[in-house]
Amino acid sequence: MNTILLTATDDDISYAAELLKSGKLVAFPTETVYGLGANAMDKKAVEKIFTAKGRPIDNPFIVHIASLDILPNLVQTVPETARRLIDLFWPGPLTIVLKKNPQIPDAATAGLDSVGIRMPKNDVALRLLKGCGIPIAAPSANASGRPSPTLASHVMDDLSGKIDAVLDGGACDVGLESTVIDLTGDVPVLLRPGGITAEQLCEAIGDVRHRFEFIPGTVPRSPGVKYKHYAPNSPVIIVKGQFQRYVEQHAERYKKPGVITYETVQFPKNCIVKNLGQSPSEHAANLFSHIRYLDNEKVDIIFAQDIEGEGLGVALRNRLYKAADNHIVQG
Ligand code: TXA
Ligand code: MG
Repeated sequence: MNTILLTATDDDISYAAELLKSGKLVAFPTETVYGLGANAMDKKAVEKIFTAKGRPIDNPFIVHIASLDILPNLVQTVPETARRLIDLFWPGPLTIVLKKNPQIPDAATAGLDSVGIRMPKNDVALRLLKGCGIPIAAPSANASGRPSPTLASHVMDDLSGKIDAVLDGGACDVGLESTVIDLTGDVPVLLRPGGITAEQLCEAIGDVRHRFEFIPGTVPRSPGVKYKHYAPNSPVIIVKGQFQRYVEQHAERYKKPGVITYETVQFPKNCIVKNLGQSPSEHAANLFSHIRYLDNEKVDIIFAQDIEGEGLGVALRNRLYKAADNHIVQG
């Protein structure tokens, strides 16, 4: 299959909308990461996503909407807590899991009785969603196990020849996937930390339980947490404590080590250094892109400086630890 690269013009967005309506797969930008979209109500279209990504079939997709009018068709009820979060954070990087309407094909929700829904805050995404007028199921547009794409070129690297089109809307603002909160039970449960922080959620709706660490031997509420996500080809080591000193002591064992840091200090000459920037939001916007860059450079190891902090720091650390498969050392 030839994957067409489309731009964010009205004509191209209309064309992308037509492709989605006719059951094709189109990757598109959101404010978090690029998504791989298919008509959420079309079982055959949704099933194609699994093949294109090589995704495990027990991992449900997030359904994207541009208008609240569609919401009642997708879920059984919208509880008061959901209304409050929608008012505050939509459009934006927050996915809300609610009891699903049986019309949504099981393939989109991996047979669960719930569905994750979000309204993205990205002009191109909203124009596309409005253009097709249907809910769009979209996981991140990476090959399964690879870091999420924050540029159209990342999508092409992973999925060219496997999907119908990529709509190029430039770099994603946030750079990490949306926060996922489950409102199907008595207490709200945070399933994935992201751009909307736990602090913001607690302030809006009170008590929120955290359930995003995977405990082997248990059944996770969010199937995605059990997979090693965001993994580059080269092994990643998280270094706590004295990062620069640790890299100095270990870099010479490797031919071409990669370094991910937020400090502007000197590292050994053989290192390829990628700096995450100054603020947590810059770190988030750069993380996946830097990991992909180092992968393309074919580094033999990636030393990553541990990320601390509250708020967005929790999401950053969650993604970094997954990329490292929890391989952590003390510097
Ligand atoms: O920012 C994002 O959320 C991006 C963009 C494209 O919107 N999408 C994304 O989708 O990251 P994906 O499929 O890569 O991750 C979705 C996560 C998975 O961990 C999945 O298990 C969880 O959300 N999820 C989806 N529906 C769920 C449900 N009904 N119950 C529990 N977890 C759910
Ligand atoms: Mg993903």
